[in-house]
Order: sequence, then structure tokens, then C-alpha cells
Amino acid sequence: MSAQSKQTLGEFIIDRQEDFKYSSGELTRLFNSIRLAAKIVSHKVNQAGLVDIIGAFGQENIQGEQQQKLDVYANEVFIQTLINREIVCGIGSEENDDFISIEGKDGNNENKYIVLMDPLDGSSNIDVNVSVGTIFSIYRRVTPIGTPVTKEDFLQKGENQVAAGYVIYGSSTMLVYTTGNGVNGFTLNPAIGTFYLSHPEMSISEDGGIYSVNEGNYVHFPQGVKDYIKYCQAEEGNRPYTSRYIGSLVSDIHRNILKGGIYLYPTSAKAPNGKLRLLYECNPIAFIIEQAGGKASDGFNRIMEIEPTELHQRVPFFCGSKNMVEKAEEFMSLNK
Ligand code: AHG
Ligand code: MN
Ligand code: MN
Ligand code: MN
Repeated sequence: MSAQSKQTLGEFIIDRQEDFKYSSGELTRLFNSIRLAAKIVSHKVNQAGLVDIIGAFGQENIQGEQQQKLDVYANEVFIQTLINREIVCGIGSEENDDFISIEGKDGNNENKYIVLMDPLDGSSNIDVNVSVGTIFSIYRRVTPIGTPVTKEDFLQKGENQVAAGYVIYGSSTMLVYTTGNGVNGFTLNPAIGTFYLSHPEMSISEDGGIYSVNEGNYVHFPQGVKDYIKYCQAEEGNRPYTSRYIGSLVSDIHRNILKGGIYLYPTSAKAPNGKLRLLYECNPIAFIIEQAGGKASDGFNRIMEIEPTELHQRVPFFCGSKNMVEKAEEFMSLNK
């Protein structure tokens, strides 16, 4: 099929207005802003090495991570694009200490959505020309419209998500999202700046053949994870599985959705709660994975049912093909 015969993201959103049923155009406009910011960041990522965007920014974020220039740039682009369009009432980001409350021009803000995001996922891969991404999650505020947002609006269970998605800046740039009615993927034609529907109705197989984990941390993993890794490596049936780990959550998840597999970021002696952030990374990816037919847990419980207590909360993450995640959970509960 030629690109011209494919539907654009804009056309797709108009066709699927029933997926945006709670808002009279507000969610559509919010998506348009995210789509625009993604194109700006994609353009910048593709210039890495030519313009001064590679390397450390020189400051730490609240997570204790060294911010990269592209972390800061992507954060600014997404925040400013959303603020300028007066389309959300609040934003929470991995790169910001606290959430941002957005006042409308006249001091009022009648918008009902908040956005939580990981503006640039896979920071460590920027300098070496390996895929990075953006992850976003959209909720309806729970406090009254027209008042400043509070922490309560951000500390919602993943189950409450209205929409979630990721952008992968890879060999091509793709935007993948769900509004709770399946998962669809769009590829950017950079020459004309248009996303086209390239991966309709994405689904992850129930069984897979890939396991993705930072095995360098093996000695620090809980016994259940160690046993599951040995299970993945044992010769039986379709095992040993293939090991694939990029170190960019978005890229590892994207590959595993397309090919079938499991992603693990467990607790370790170095990271007692795991590394990944519940609100910016795990919940949106969990929503997408579940909508694609897969499963996401912390090793014991469903990710989207966890009641968040902090903005930057970390959780262990087990995510991917349903049967593989269930098998990993089995090993976890044997070693409880
Ligand atoms: P971020 O770049 O947004 O801070 O996220 C990094 C995360 C995630 O992308 C990746 O899966 C994981 O960190 C890799 O961590 P390790 O290097 O510890 O494996
Ligand atoms: Mn980071
Ligand atoms: Mn990340
Ligand atoms: Mn990040």
C-alpha cells in the first residue's frame, strides 16, 4: 500500500471520534498538540551530532539522574506546546520536581485534562545514536474544573487513564497510542511532517520468544527473577528464549509488542523499588500493553490497580506477552 492510500493520524482521529467521547474536541486538540511536539522533538533528535544537543545538561533531576540536553529540550517542547495551546490544566513530568498547574489567560482554566509524561525516555542512548522515545498519559482531573489542580489529580490509578501513548524516535519515528479501544501505530513521513496509520490494531502474542532485562544486575535480583531468567535460558520447547535489551523502555516494549516477549525491570539491591516510574512510564505502557492483549504487573499485582502515593514513585515492572508475564509471576510467588 502506498503512503498516500494510508489514513493520516488526523483523519484517523476524526474517524474515531467515539473514542474521544468525553470531550467535545478537547481531547482531539490535546492529541494534536502532542503530535506537534513529537514532530519537533523528532526533528531535533535527527539533528543530534550536527547541532549542540548531545551530552549532559549539567544538572540533576529530582530522580537523582544527570539530565541530558535532550531531556531538557524535549521537556520544554512538550510543556510549552501544551501550555501555549491552553489545552490542559496540569502537567507532571519526570524532569520536573513538582507538577505544573496551568492558569488560563484570564486566570481561569476550564480544561479538564492533565498530562503525565516521560519527555525523553532512554537518555543513555542519545549520544550513541540508538532509539529514544517519549511516553505520555492522559487523565481527567478529579478536582473541580476551574480551580487550580492539586496532587490528587495526578495521583490516580492507571485504570483511570483516558489515553496513553508513546513516540519512538527510531529508524523511523512512530506514534503509538490507545484510548482504551485497541492500539494503533502511526509512522511519520518526515519529508511532509505527516503521521500515517502504518500499524493498525496492534496486538502482542500470548506467548513470545524474547526476554528483555538488564542482566548485568543479575546478582542483585530477587530469587524469583533469577529463577525466571534461568527458566528463559533452559533448553525446552521454544526455549531458550532470545535475549534483547536496548536500555530504552519504549524501544524494548515496541519490539516486544511486535515480536512477542517480556520486559522486566525488577527490584534490585541498587534499586529497592525498581527504577521505572509508575506515573510516567509504567502506567501508560501498561495501558497500551493491556489494550494490545498483554499484561503488566509489579511481579504480584496489576500495575494499573496500584494506588500512587508519590509523583515520582518507582515500581518493579514485568510487562509483555500474557503467558510470559504469568510465568514470571509464578516464579515470584514461589519465592515470596
Ligand atoms: P529515562 O531515560 O526516561 O530516565 O528512562 C531510562 C529507563 C528506561 O528507558 C530503560 O528501560 C531503563 O531506564 C534502563 O535502565 P538500566 O540502564 O538500569 O538498564
Ligand atoms: Mn531520566
Ligand atoms: Mn524513561
Ligand atoms: Mn526520561
